[in-house]
Amino acid sequence: MMKTNTISTEQKILGLLKKKTFSYLSGQALSKTFGLSRTAIWKHIKAIKEMGYAVEASPAKGYRLNLQNLPFNALEISSNLKTSFIGKDISFYKEVDSTNETARELASKGAAEGFAVVADCQKKGKGRLGRRWESPAGVNIYTSVVLRPNIMPVFAPQLTLVSAVAVAETIARFLNPPLPVAMLRSNGSPAPFDKGGQGGFLSVKWPNDILVNSKKVAGILTEMNSEMDRINFVVVGVGVNVNMTKEMFLEELEFIATSLKQEGGKEISRTDFIQTLYLNLETWYAQYLKGGFEPVRKAWTSYFNMAGKTVRVQQMDRVIEGVATGLDNDGMLLLREKNGNIARIISGDVAI
Ligand code: BTN
Repeated sequence: MMKTNTISTEQKILGLLKKKTFSYLSGQALSKTFGLSRTAIWKHIKAIKEMGYAVEASPAKGYRLNLQNLPFNALEISSNLKTSFIGKDISFYKEVDSTNETARELASKGAAEGFAVVADCQKKGKGRLGRRWESPAGVNIYTSVVLRPNIMPVFAPQLTLVSAVAVAETIARFLNPPLPVAMLRSNGSPAPFDKGGQGGFLSVKWPNDILVNSKKVAGILTEMNSEMDRINFVVVGVGVNVNMTKEMFLEELEFIATSLKQEGGKEISRTDFIQTLYLNLETWYAQYLKGGFEPVRKAWTSYFNMAGKTVRVQQMDRVIEGVATGLDNDGMLLLREKNGNIARIISGDVAI
């Protein structure tokens, strides 16, 4: 497991390089600013390059940073992040087994609310129901956020729906062309998934799959550590297929999974995406803690396009079939069975 640390002199040098976009920053000027030898400056530049920054060095002119090709790392995510607590403290890894596992470990050791783990690649990315989450390097978002809500453990599944709304809203912004958020927040009138041709059909599949043009682009795995009547922490793990290409998907996923780039045709900055995701997550989480589940239920329902359709829910030990009628006040899926019974589904895998 390799963690990328940020060192403040390097951060400062980077700040200066970012301001000097059209010309070089001389080694001499940097030496003077930091009171360091030219060799020491060169070592910092080397470390900056090792962090993935494309720094051009010219013996005569000095150093210049290529701003078109900034790396995906903690430093970039933190700069200009507009949140007040989510992602304010980030652990970034080049490679990790699962960001959820790392976040759980760190949360058990006291990581604060909003602490986020981000990885460029996961070796054992986990999906729901014990599945694997394909996590290749260099293209997608894999992040897990620690939350410490003061709610009863029984309400924790609602956090999955809170997160699903935040993820869906983020994806809407990055579709090509984007769906305006004002429309998304208008309680589904007209429903965002009706906007095909304007960047794609966006929908949610209960409880936490986000689909574009009926193929999965993102999933959420929420895990909890609790006592009978109090939550110690919740880890919300989000995986988004951002720039993954068709060839990168396993053959069996080709018809059921996609990426934002595949649907929109445009490369998306993972830094921009994750910053927007953290902000949306923070906004919806705060709204949920303050205003309860109802606003979340409404927003989630505006993306739900299975209402009125006959669906089959595969649970551990049984299959339930019925017409999906929506979400109840607790976030459970409501199904009207053939015999007229209303089933409330707390977990399972839903298919039309
Ligand atoms: C699903 O749809 O089955 C949930 C997928 C969740 C994947 C994310 S990627 C980041 C975090 N770390 C994991 O191991 N899983 C979640």
